[in-house]
Amino acid sequence: MAKAAKKTIKAKPAKAKAKPAKSKTAPRKGGRTGGCPQRPAALSAPRKENASRFKTVGSASLSVAGKTVEFPIYKAVEGQNVIDIQKLYAATGHFTFDPGFLSTASTDSEITFIDGDKGILRYRGYDIADLADKSDFLECAYLLLYGDLPNKEQSEWFRYRVTHHTMVHEQLHFLYRGFPRRAHPMAIMVGAVASLSAFYHDSLDIHNPEERELAALRIIAKMPTLAAMAYKYSIGQPFVYPDNKLGFAENFLHMMFATPAEPYVVNPIIADAMEKIFILHADHEQNASTSTVRLSGSSGANPFACIGAGIATLWGPAHGGANEAVINQLQEIGDVKNIPHFIKRVKDKNDNFRLMGFGHRVYKNYDPRAAVLRKACHDVLKELGQEDEPLLQIAMELEKIALNDPYFIERKLYPNVDFYSGIIYRALGIPSTMFTVLFAVARAAGWIAQWKEMIEDPSMKIGRPRQLFIGSAPRKFQPVAKRK
Ligand code: CMC
Repeated sequence: MAKAAKKTIKAKPAKAKAKPAKSKTAPRKGGRTGGCPQRPAALSAPRKENASRFKTVGSASLSVAGKTVEFPIYKAVEGQNVIDIQKLYAATGHFTFDPGFLSTASTDSEITFIDGDKGILRYRGYDIADLADKSDFLECAYLLLYGDLPNKEQSEWFRYRVTHHTMVHEQLHFLYRGFPRRAHPMAIMVGAVASLSAFYHDSLDIHNPEERELAALRIIAKMPTLAAMAYKYSIGQPFVYPDNKLGFAENFLHMMFATPAEPYVVNPIIADAMEKIFILHADHEQNASTSTVRLSGSSGANPFACIGAGIATLWGPAHGGANEAVINQLQEIGDVKNIPHFIKRVKDKNDNFRLMGFGHRVYKNYDPRAAVLRKACHDVLKELGQEDEPLLQIAMELEKIALNDPYFIERKLYPNVDFYSGIIYRALGIPSTMFTVLFAVARAAGWIAQWKEMIEDPSMKIGRPRQLFIGSAPRKFQPVAKRK
């Protein structure tokens, strides 16, 4: 096996001429000394009423054992209409069977829209490429939570509020110190984020909108701090406190790479790339981790514990863990000349080998996030003078071969978001075990927006799937002496 590329270039303390990243929206005002701007009167676009949520456009009939039942079809604003089968069991005594939710909409939602065939992703109607190009992460988090891009007043209020919740309780330092230094940072994140429920449980009534809002602000604000702490702990450096005069991505990079020993200025190009990556990962409708957050939340559980459950789900290599797996795999491939061997393995029915960073349950076209990151990846490597990075050469060649190979074309396997994000992170000096943590930092905004939407739905029910039981038929208990 070819040797792994060994050099990871650390995000350097910027040279004297590097200026802090420019915020793309109005500059933040105030600070502790300036005081919190007043909460604007209207923040949220109110949730749609049932009448406008469910527009019946037809019906579907199903015959079961000679009985025909009609089910309403609801119109989607975009994408697939749905057949409402909620009454199926009562009417026929049957359940539907849909492992992996291939044909099942678990909820209606106003937050994110994906057209996998066309390669479209929109937050609240705004195209992802447009947001990545023109917006910033906090503005997108606001958009996901409240339904609209903030005006100046709303933006200043939101930035102030998030910024002033970035610190975590000092007691959390002891929690971190309980983990082995070699612990995977995702393992720490599952525990640390869920542990926020111990700090904020008493003050959290999920039926109170103000307390829900506070929980949302806290989770968005504290995720970068907890993530950077996981990294600092793993390398034995002191935790770095947030610096509230920095932007969201800047602050995260500062907490990751600053030390108390010397000044550290974040390279604006790196901060910009990071801001883009956070935007691209902020939400992705009802995927495995988001569905987990919703399902956990549907029992009325503490939202921080629900986000912890979402982080656990995200960790898997079929979901957010893929970006770490991509780098490991590119290193395993090691050289462009080895690619044909790995392509052969992909096609071998007796080999479970898959190309990490390729394919998606929903996208049967180029993942629009990958399209943005492909460009960002080239820009960042150029800026950092790493264009000859061998892993990028392998990635480009792999992409070229896969896009032209009938195996990938027939199965509509295109590069997904994780294919490029790992290469960018690596160039930024972020270790591969932190890749999925960064995904979680961004996705927390989507998770909490989806949780909020669910709790604010008057027709919310606890999520409780059914099953097709195929185990043993009834049988009699036998005393141990009589068992074979
Ligand atoms: N490499 C090679 N073959 C693949 C791949 C791949 N990455 N993905 C799917 N296939 C093949 C699969 O073997 C199957 O072939 P056949 O029909 O001959 O049996 C066919 O494509 C369909 O596969 P599937 O498993 O039914 O597809 P799915 O929609 O259930 O799986 C997936 C989606 C993302 C789990 C899968 O494509 C995969 O494992 N990809 C690699 C992991 C990865 O990159 N995950 C990140 C997803 S993007 C981040 C996020 O949004 O969470």
